[in-house]
Parts: sequence; C-alpha cells; structure tokens
Amino acid sequence: MAMRSHYCGLVTDAQLGETVSLCGWVNRRRDHGGVIFIDLRDREGYVQVVCDPDRADMFAVAEGVRNEYCVQVKGLVRARPAGTVNDNLKSGKIEVLCHELIVLNASVTPPFQIDDENLSETTRLTHRVLDLRRPYMQNNLMLRYRVSMEVRKFLDANGFVDIETPMLTKSTPEGARDYLVPSRVHDGHFFALPQSPQLFKQLLMVAGFDRYYQITKCFRDEDLRADRQPEFTQIDIETSFLGEEEIRDMFQGMITTVFKNTIGVDLGEFPVMTYQDAMHLYGSDKPDLRVNLQFTEVTDVMADVDFKVFSGAATMKNGRVVALRVPGGSVEGGGISRGEIDAYTEFVKIYGAKGLAYIRVNDLSKGRDGLQSPIVKNIHDTALNAVLERTGAQNGDLIFFGADKAKIVNDAIGALRLKVGLSEFGKKNGLFTAGWRPMWVVDFPMFEFDEEAQRYTATHHPFTAPKDGHEDWMVSAPEKCISKGYDMVLNGWEMGGGSVRIHRADVQQKVFDALKITPEEAQLKFGFLLDALQYGAPPHGGLAFGLDRIVTLMTGAESIRDVIAFPKTQRAQCLLTQAPSMVDEKQLRELHIKLRNADLVKAA
Ligand code: AMO
Ligand code: AMP
Repeated sequence: MAMRSHYCGLVTDAQLGETVSLCGWVNRRRDHGGVIFIDLRDREGYVQVVCDPDRADMFAVAEGVRNEYCVQVKGLVRARPAGTVNDNLKSGKIEVLCHELIVLNASVTPPFQIDDENLSETTRLTHRVLDLRRPYMQNNLMLRYRVSMEVRKFLDANGFVDIETPMLTKSTPEGARDYLVPSRVHDGHFFALPQSPQLFKQLLMVAGFDRYYQITKCFRDEDLRADRQPEFTQIDIETSFLGEEEIRDMFQGMITTVFKNTIGVDLGEFPVMTYQDAMHLYGSDKPDLRVNLQFTEVTDVMADVDFKVFSGAATMKNGRVVALRVPGGSVEGGGISRGEIDAYTEFVKIYGAKGLAYIRVNDLSKGRDGLQSPIVKNIHDTALNAVLERTGAQNGDLIFFGADKAKIVNDAIGALRLKVGLSEFGKKNGLFTAGWRPMWVVDFPMFEFDEEAQRYTATHHPFTAPKDGHEDWMVSAPEKCISKGYDMVLNGWEMGGGSVRIHRADVQQKVFDALKITPEEAQLKFGFLLDALQYGAPPHGGLAFGLDRIVTLMTGAESIRDVIAFPKTQRAQCLLTQAPSMVDEKQLRELHIKLRNADLVKAA
C-alpha cells in the first residue's frame, strides 16, 4: 500500500469498510480512559482516528504522540456511533479504527495550539510555518491558487500570453519610493525593483505581442496599511487595438468569471461612475456602495452665512461644505447619542477636520424650534432651507456637516460615512447592505495639483492618454484635462486600475511638459520608451489588478497579510526570517557602499 491512500479531510462514508492509509499532523489527542482519539489533520481537513487498547503495540505509540507530530495511520473506515456524527466535517460521518500508527516525525511542543483563534499577529508571523498549518490559512492560500488559475484560464482563452519582465530594472513611475539594489559591477550604480511592469508591457505592445499578461511581484516602499504590502502581486495586463470601454468590458468579464468559478458569487452589474460624481457623492474615488449614505453639496448656499467656519470654507479656493444626512440618527432611544457624536467628532479630526457640526431634525413642523444644533442660529433661512430640502431631511434624522478644504472634507466625511454605515446603528437601520458592490470609476483628471511641491503630478501615471480633444489643454489648462484611466472598485477597495496609453511620442512629450519634466530628464528616465514610441507604436492600453486584494475581499479577511504566505509586518519586516538584517563589511565593500552609521555593520 502506498504511504498515503487518501487525504484525511476527504475520507467519507464512500470508503466505509475500506482500509486506508493516512498521513497528517496530530491536531489533538484525546485520552478517553482506555480509548485514545486523534484528530488527524492535513490540508484537506480533519479525520477522527480511534486507537483501541487491544492492539497493544499501536496503543503504546498512541500514548506517546503529541500535538503536531507527523504520523501515518493505517486503519479501517467505519461509521461513527449514532449521536457522534459531526456535520461540520466532510469526514464527520466516519472514523478510522487504527491498526497501525507510525510516527513519521515527532514535534517539539508548539508555542500555541494550532486552532487557537486568538493569537496576536506578531505570534502568527513569527511562527508563520505553524500559523500556515491552520485550516484558515490553508483555505486562503488554496483559494488564492484557484483565483490565479481561473485568471490564467480566462486570459489564455482570450489570446493573452504570459511574458516575464525584469526584476532588476530602472525606476518605474507609479509614484512610490523605489527599493534599490546596488550594482557590484558598476560602482555607485543601482537597480530599482519594479513598482510595476508598466513600461515593459508597453514595450511588448510596441514589439507586437498584442496581448500580454503576467502574475507578478511589484515592489513599493510606501506607508503600509491593511491593504498594502511592500511587495505584492499584480495580475498585469496589456492589449493593443482595444479602446477604453472594450478593455473595461473584457476585464469586467474576467473578474465576474473568476468570482463565479471560485466562490460562486455573481457580481452582477458594474455601475460606471465618473471620478467627479464619486468625489461629489462620496468624497472618495473608491466608494463603498454597500453604505447607503451620500454627501449633499451645500457649498453654494453657505458663502454669506454668519457661521464663519462654513462661510470661510465656502469662499476659499478649493473649499467645500457638505451635509451628510443620517436617516433615523436622532430618533429618541434608537438614534446616535450625544456621546457618539462626540466620538465621531474626535474621529474626523484624524483626517484633519476641525469639528463636526450637526443638526438634529426633531420636528420639521416647528420650523427652527424643531431643530437642535449648535450652529443653526448662525445659518440664515435660505441656507437652512436648502440644507433641509436638498438632503430630503425627515423628522428623526441627524445631519452632519464638513467644512474645510475639499480634500479634508472628502477624507473626513468620507471616513465618517463608512464609520456610521458600518456601526451597529447603521447596520440596524439599513444604512449598510451586505453583499458585493463592484463598480468602475472613470474619467479621472489627468493631473492633480500637489500643494506641497506646487506642481502637477499624474493622477494615474504619466503614460495615461488624455481624452480625445484634451491634448492641447495639457499645458494650457491641465486641471481641465480628463484621462482615459479607469479603476475597478469593490466594496470600497481599489481592486485594479489602468488606462489607455499614449502611443505617440509628441503627446507623451506634452505630458512631460505639463509635469515640468524637461526633455533631458525625460530622455534620461524614459528614453527607451520614447524611442520605442517612434517605431509605429500601436494604440494600446491595459490594467493591473491587485491579486492580494481580490483574494482578501473573497475571504473577508481583515488584512492582505492573511492571503500571503510570507508577508511583511506594518513596519516592513519579515518576522519569520528577520529580514531586513545587517550585512558585513566585506559585502558592503564589494558593493562600493559605506554606511553613514558605521555601528550598523555586522561584526565579521
Ligand atoms: P496601480 O498602481 O493602480 O496601477 O496598481 C494596480 C493595483 O495593484 C494593487 N496595489 C497594491 N496591492 C497591495 N499592496 C500595494 N502596495 C499595492 N499597490 C497597488 C491595487 C491596484 O489597483 N501600472 C499600473 C497599472 C496599469 O496602468 O496598467 C499600476 O501599477 O489593487
Ligand atoms: P464652534 O463655533 O467652534 O464651537 O463650532 C460649532 C460647531 O461646529 C461644533 O459642533 C463644531 O464641532 C463644528 N465645527 C467646527 N469646525 C468645523 C468644520 N471645519 N467643519 C464642520 N464642523 C465644524
């Protein structure tokens, strides 16, 4: 008999009466006075093994096994006695009566019980190998594999070919800081790890491959969050001769197919929303449509109110005043309490807001007397009526306000919108609808003005094409210029993004002009692309999806670290291998590097 005849988790009543040979890990050993039960675990799940004392040799081994021992069990599959069937397990109807038990390898006592649900992330990442044994992590990584297989199947069926691009390369312009690799051969020279394969995939289009994809690592040295890792995986795609909508349709099809074939979810319609509408209604370019709350614009009616905070914001450059109507927020007993409003006021300060004005709509029939608010006395009738009308306020509602520079209002009230929607109150009152809410955000501005640097930067990246007819505004009126960029958003996460690219060198030059990149600088950084564009570059475009994010959303995990086998911490460290680490003087010398802090060189 082979070492293993079945996976533990897949033995079912189909094998009743058969002798099986299983290999796995001891999840738990339970001593039931005379009989020993072993829950044996492998990647497919658990099976119950029964060790009877009548086989003395085997029983002696069973007495000695401990958690996480790797063992082989040979035995007879039999039905579990009535009343002990476990419906949560595939193997729950049966158990294996052990004839022979072989310890393949003992284990030292693990630092935690594998099925402990309350481990800190530090513990989990430090002992990642044991953490990965947990069914939760096994399932996540198996799902990740199935997602990438479905992606490959779809792309292959549509004529896309997988072509690898270099990891040791030149800086690519996705806007984050680069990870650098010093060159030993060339003193003082560095490679950059790719932030994405962006330029190479465009070159592959110029080279005539027509449809490219790659599931590949990208590296960005940026501040980490729950949905960001310094190295992460993109499903990176580029195609020639397709327009904006054709590209969106094709990859909406891909994502729809992947969700259907992996987790059986029908994503349904993908509404298409302009960037402008998204910012206007949700203060975000990746709105979570599961939250049923929207901004109401009131900037135009606040310019001359006595409340300086509002009139100031309404009249400043890039200022904005919005209302957020929360239905039922002032209902007596069930609404949002004074204490909660105070907590929300503190919460919005994280995003730079200076306060959180509000109106409780108690009784509209009583006019101003029916409103309770620290600010209405300083808001004239026209403005107040506009607020009540535009928000559609009803008795029992609570209306919040944000007034400041648009960026602060959008960030603060956008975050508040999610916080209220996802709160207990929000869930009880229908402000949150669970489910899958995909969408496209389109018509991004070509450029954003960076206040700090006092110059324009590219919203997507500098190779994104402007809408037809917007080319000439790039230098004369950059703020009016709209791009052919698009993002796919799901439940408030940016899953993917891309654009139709510029395929003409003269248009590309205009973008560099708008970004104040001199021709010399452009030649130095992107000369190879500019050159390639001169040899009959085809119209092309594409996009990239964040594989880690897609799988995280599917699993409902809180962090993308839960779908990556060996992730980094928030502080960009690997707790398992203890990377990054110091290196010795010899290695540094070979790389022509001298550290500013010489104490940080590893003693030889
Ligand atoms: P972009 O920078 O939008 O586009 O990245 C594409 C997608 O990659 C995912 N992503 C990340 N996931 C985890 N951790 C990160 N640090 C991280 N950064 C990005 C997101 C995002 O939508 N070259 C372009 C694509 C193109 O234009 O074709 C690009 O890289 O899900
Ligand atoms: P004050 O006049 O500063 O006491 O503020 C009156 C109300 O307006 C309080 O509820 C504040 O929380 C709120 N408030 C202050 N600044 C802002 C702002 N920038 N946006 C929204 N509300 C604010």
